[in-house]
Amino acid sequence: MMISNLGTKAEETFTKQQRWNDYPPEQHLSSSLLFARRMSHLREPASRAFLDGIAAVGLERDSLPDLEQLNGNLEPITGWRALPVKGFLPANAFFACLSVRRFPTTVTIRPLDSLDYVPEPDIFHDVFGHVPMHANSVFAEFLQRFGTVASRASTESETAAVTRLFWFTVEFGLIEEEGRKKVYGSGLISSHADCLNALGPNCAHEPFDLDRVIATDFRIRRPTAAAFRDSVSTIGLARGTFPRSRLHEDLLPTSNDRARMHARLQPVERVIEASFGTR
Ligand SMILES: [Fe+2]
Repeated sequence: MMISNLGTKAEETFTKQQRWNDYPPEQHLSSSLLFARRMSHLREPASRAFLDGIAAVGLERDSLPDLEQLNGNLEPITGWRALPVKGFLPANAFFACLSVRRFPTTVTIRPLDSLDYVPEPDIFHDVFGHVPMHANSVFAEFLQRFGTVASRASTESETAAVTRLFWFTVEFGLIEEEGRKKVYGSGLISSHADCLNALGPNCAHEPFDLDRVIATDFRIRRPTAAAFRDSVSTIGLARGTFPRSRLHEDLLPTSNDRARMHARLQPVERVIEASFGTR
């Protein structure tokens, strides 16, 4: 399958096959333990969109996600597919994948002795944390549109702006449902510690505001044994240097879309200081 605007060479460079039958039993065990642990905590704090998505894509509790099987369920719903990749993609390639409804997904899983934290993304974060939301039609459209806009970022400040938007929504977004704050960001879905922190008293929430989001650095905290050491992003963004009107127009191009997105995304609140456990 060719990813049209990524290019054949790039696709060969970044993608790989998931050899599901080659996973040893202990890796399936890691996956099922993580799944059971998170689901035991997510029934209450998770967004309805995520909980519905888990059922829609048919994530299995007892084994590692089989991407072909998941895609067979997901693609007929929204056209999204999980795309197995070798590891981190450069930002422009990652965004290009999103623009064609392909979500780059690592296929390795954290070892049994490191279930709580791994520095690199793994299949649990990428699939359990991200993919269920792709079955939601509004989120699915937002993420594709985001990819289209983000893949056109050509300067450091534009890349910083779209990275912040991704961080405060797709990775660490909250949404208000029936008057209660719920999590839908993949970092909060996939990490118990981050979810507790985001909904706890130490995390400030603010109403979603696109201008403020793209002008706000995020902090990455790693739960080291010594203490939390903040690693503040050094990417600077002078307010006003990003062509905000373009971002707004491209993300919300029509009044219909704007109304629909407004209804669903305005209650989204962002986590000012999200801790960073499993990406
Ligand atoms: Fe993620």
